[in-house]
Amino acid sequence: MNVNGKHYETIWLKPGNKKEAEIIDQRFLPFEFKIVNLKNCDDVFFAIRDMQVRGAPLIGAAAAMGIYLALCEYSNADTLDDYINRKAAFLKSARPTAINLGYAVELVLGEINKVQGLEQKTEIALKTVVKIIDKERQNSLDIGHHGLPLIERISAMKNEEPVNILTHCNAGWLACIDYGTATAPIYLAHNHGIKVHVWVDETRPRNQGAWLTAWELQQHGIPCTIITDNAGGHLMQHGMVDLVIVGCDRASINGDAANKIGTYLKALAAHDNNIPFYVALPSSSIDWNITDGLKEIPIEERNEEEIKYVQGIVNGKTENMLITSPESKVANYGFDVTPARLITALITEKGICKPEKNSILELFPEKIEMTIK
Ligand code: MRU
Repeated sequence: MNVNGKHYETIWLKPGNKKEAEIIDQRFLPFEFKIVNLKNCDDVFFAIRDMQVRGAPLIGAAAAMGIYLALCEYSNADTLDDYINRKAAFLKSARPTAINLGYAVELVLGEINKVQGLEQKTEIALKTVVKIIDKERQNSLDIGHHGLPLIERISAMKNEEPVNILTHCNAGWLACIDYGTATAPIYLAHNHGIKVHVWVDETRPRNQGAWLTAWELQQHGIPCTIITDNAGGHLMQHGMVDLVIVGCDRASINGDAANKIGTYLKALAAHDNNIPFYVALPSSSIDWNITDGLKEIPIEERNEEEIKYVQGIVNGKTENMLITSPESKVANYGFDVTPARLITALITEKGICKPEKNSILELFPEKIEMTIK
């Protein structure tokens, strides 16, 4: 997508040096557009853990890049297999909820295990990273095409008045490679001349909505309004939301969906007000091994500082400000699980399905074997 009129994706190999990668450091948006280098596997671990890169599909692509960079820096200290397994476990430990991380790491490991020797393994790792990036870009675009008719229909019903869409967190292109998941149908609708307006939940404590989603929508001229995390229910009660579209970090095969903390409350409010609630996700965010999202999806707990301090710009400089008493006890749950019964449908790269096992597997029959324990 475009930044000041120039096309960017979220991760790429450094021009002129294929042994390093580059990313947009999302910690500084929307105040500063900073591109940083990832020189090695440790840099990738830090980038994921500290949320320089974030969002399930991008975390996956970055972790795959981490394995490739680990191979580039290998120096015979360990046997190659031990070394790679250690690096893979290290990368997987960066964040627990998004399944894309483990999925992408395993995909690269599977491919490099098919060949012998450092040179061949490095070559195939890079090819796999490129494949993952290409696939995620295409997944987002396909999600956009499948979700577009949902917005078109509402627009027609409203005689082309703006369609009001509420979203939570950032499931935009910054969370993926391009287009986003929840935002892909919105971008396509806008490109097709459909009038849309997006209610953007600010998404405390890291403000992915206020800082990232609003910024990326604005870059593309899509009207949007930032609201507090608690405003959605009120807007829904007053007919100001036509549909909700959110992303997903991990879905179980019965259709429960983990997403940024607060998503579940939006689903409850949407259900109470008869407003369609869609979860947009690529199949790389489905955990084919779990049947009960509430019990089985690990929920990340992040550090206290994210809640105790807010970051902002003071006199042109980034400052952190304490907003609680220093001794207050806080709990920082990163995600929650929306049960399938509150989800109208899943929008995937292969089409729209009900949030239930049979419907999901109708779209992805090749995964049936993986779901049998
Ligand atoms: O903690 P984050 O910013 O990585 O959480 C991201 C989200 O919850 C997104 O909504 C989700 O990953 C879907 S991204 C397409």
